[in-house]
Amino acid sequence: MRDVEFHNREKETREIRAILDSRPTLITFIYGPINSGKTELITHTIEELPDEYVVFYINLRTKFLASYDEFIESLFEMEMEAEGATRKKKETLAELVSSVTKVAGIPITKEFMDYVFKDKKPKNAFSYIIKLFEEVEATGKQPVLIVDELQKIGDVNVNSSLIYELFNFFIDLTKERHLAHVFVATSDSLFIEQIYSEAMLSGRCRYLLVDDFDRGTTTAFLGEYGFTDGETQTAWDYCGGKPIFLLELIRIDEKERFAKKILATRVNQLKDLLDYLDYTKPGIAIGETRYLVEKEDVVNILRRFVDAEDIDSDGLNRPAKQFLIEDNILFLDLDTGIIKPQSRLNLLAIRKVLEERVQ
Ligand SMILES: Nc1ncnc2c1ncn2[C@@H]1O[C@H](COP(=O)(O)OP(=O)(O)O)[C@@H](O)[C@H]1O
Ligand SMILES: [Mg+2]
Repeated sequence: MRDVEFHNREKETREIRAILDSRPTLITFIYGPINSGKTELITHTIEELPDEYVVFYINLRTKFLASYDEFIESLFEMEMEAEGATRKKKETLAELVSSVTKVAGIPITKEFMDYVFKDKKPKNAFSYIIKLFEEVEATGKQPVLIVDELQKIGDVNVNSSLIYELFNFFIDLTKERHLAHVFVATSDSLFIEQIYSEAMLSGRCRYLLVDDFDRGTTTAFLGEYGFTDGETQTAWDYCGGKPIFLLELIRIDEKERFAKKILATRVNQLKDLLDYLDYTKPGIAIGETRYLVEKEDVVNILRRFVDAEDIDSDGLNRPAKQFLIEDNILFLDLDTGIIKPQSRLNLLAIRKVLEERVQ
């Protein structure tokens, strides 16, 4: 199999580079439907950056976050104790910074870790990071902090002020101190909507949408891998421009059969979900109150997609809407307030399931 190379994203890459070229002032949310290529774009952009940027990249996806301590730990990467007498143990921040490569987690030693955890307040962790970033700045370089899959912080079972404090810290790094660029990536636009009001982000953040490829980009991408016009049409009809599925289609010879198979899987998952709602009403928190999700409201929202590809978020039943977004069936575009299925496959599956219900 040929290795698939990073494709296009010129516009988004340009936007990120323009942000990095200017003084840090706002927090940047990189958002978009699942598997649209957010992490790939970030990783690729970092690789291409000149050495004057020192990037601290934290991906919470693989981290187990059940407690406050685990969240704080997830931010840092412990420096191993030097073995033998040949390497000097790193004791100062300057020594730590001198060993930082272009991309890493936030380095820390055991001694600093004790300080960070001292009285279980995020304040200590944040002041450590600020000092470390100031050391980076002192060497003439620009610190960049990237937190990927930040919605996982929602799993942390502590007082709700953690998010508030974290975003105040991000505001401090950007708008107040102009010390570091801060990027936060997530597929969960409800999470962004929620912290937007809780952390008073008005005027302190910007959004960068990384959506599935458009038609032209998809055609160009698949063309590089020898797709015929017919194969490209099949790919677009079933998978739209969702990179993760396009990669599968590149890999597989019987493209149409594969596309039909993943659609059938999606249809079954959706049917199963509707069946599940016959037996239970999931609870959804809106502010302080919990609401029950009614199957009828869910079906009413889905029905809107029978003859539309996207719909206005206004006026929809809120618990049902939230349930469908949290379940990764629908995606909310924060900039426009437009809701659409998370993928072309989801759109097709919704239509198929609803058609069958009518018959
Ligand atoms: N521009 C691109 N060129 C080639 N492959 C890509 C591109 N964007 C995403 N992919 C591939 O698609 C898959 C999903 O991308 P990922 O970045 O993990 O999505 P997200 O972070 O938005 O959920 C990955 O396997 C990735 O390698
Ligand atoms: Mg990702």
